[in-house]
Amino acid sequence: MRISDPQIANRLAELDVELQRGATLADLTSLGFGGTTDLLRLTKHETIPDLLRLLDSKHIPHKFLGGGSNLLVGDGELPWVVLQLVRPEPDIVLEGNYAHVDAAADLGRTVTFCAKHDLGGMEGLIGVPGTVGGALRMNAGAYGMQIGSYVREVKLYRAAGRKIEILRGNQISFEYRHTSFAPDDMMLAVTLELPSKPYKEILQGIRICNEKRRSSQPLGQKSAGCIFKNPPGGSAGRMIDELGLKGLSVGDARVSDRHANFFVNAGHASAKDMLALIADVRERVRKAYGVTLENEVVVWNA
Ligand code: EPU
Repeated sequence: MRISDPQIANRLAELDVELQRGATLADLTSLGFGGTTDLLRLTKHETIPDLLRLLDSKHIPHKFLGGGSNLLVGDGELPWVVLQLVRPEPDIVLEGNYAHVDAAADLGRTVTFCAKHDLGGMEGLIGVPGTVGGALRMNAGAYGMQIGSYVREVKLYRAAGRKIEILRGNQISFEYRHTSFAPDDMMLAVTLELPSKPYKEILQGIRICNEKRRSSQPLGQKSAGCIFKNPPGGSAGRMIDELGLKGLSVGDARVSDRHANFFVNAGHASAKDMLALIADVRERVRKAYGVTLENEVVVWNA
């Protein structure tokens, strides 16, 4: 979707919003495909309510983009504009055992920055690509931990009240790859309370998680991490593997040979290819196991 009205463009500039015309989502997502739209880069949290009022009044639909690492975006001209936070400097401020982190901060950098200051707990998240805001919204987790356990406060734009609010950790429910945030709430910043641990010890944990990940996941390839959530008590990866579906392809969308719950873009895959592959695998698992796998990847399809 393109913003062609010069009055809107002027108002965006007044709100300190950078308008990048015709951005290609393929360049902003780890799967490496996705269509084109105008990208609005937000430099100030405070102007977000005014910006959203403006977009609503002009009937311009929008979506919030984090790091684009758990996202499957449709092909072609997209029917909404995309909003993305510009990362401030500094993006992490420490205060005792608290880390105040901007939602646009890189998750891996946050884990290592805190580690260097003897704050641990998040070792399992090393190697998970994306922003802290994205990790928060999905309650990212790995190797027995989840980010939600460390959240003490969240600053967010709440779509329902159309204003910026601060929530305490105990006002938010964090479940397996699910949170109580509304789909159109926008994460702005978070305060994490992290346990003190010597850097050397944290580094050891980080090395172990890195090694496990390298040995079981296709890290060098374009993917969105796991495509499906694990069903209660089961493993989507194991089920897909047991059905012999590694290597199954639609166009260049392919079930990874390394981890069957990672679907990779092996060349020039389109969203259409990837969605067809997801539907095919879901159906085969349903027929074989009677289980309907739910997407873990977020799909933005027109
Ligand atoms: N397995 C297979 N074949 C495969 C893949 C896995 O048999 O191709 C088996 C493994 O041998 C193991 C079991 O399935 O016995 C579970 O596999 P794994 O340890 O790789 O973990 P997972 O349940 O597939 C989850 C998360 C990952 C996270 C890892 C490590 C989900 C959907 N996935 O994977 O998160 O990195 O645990 O903690 O919860 C993601 O969220 O995108 C993601 C990749």
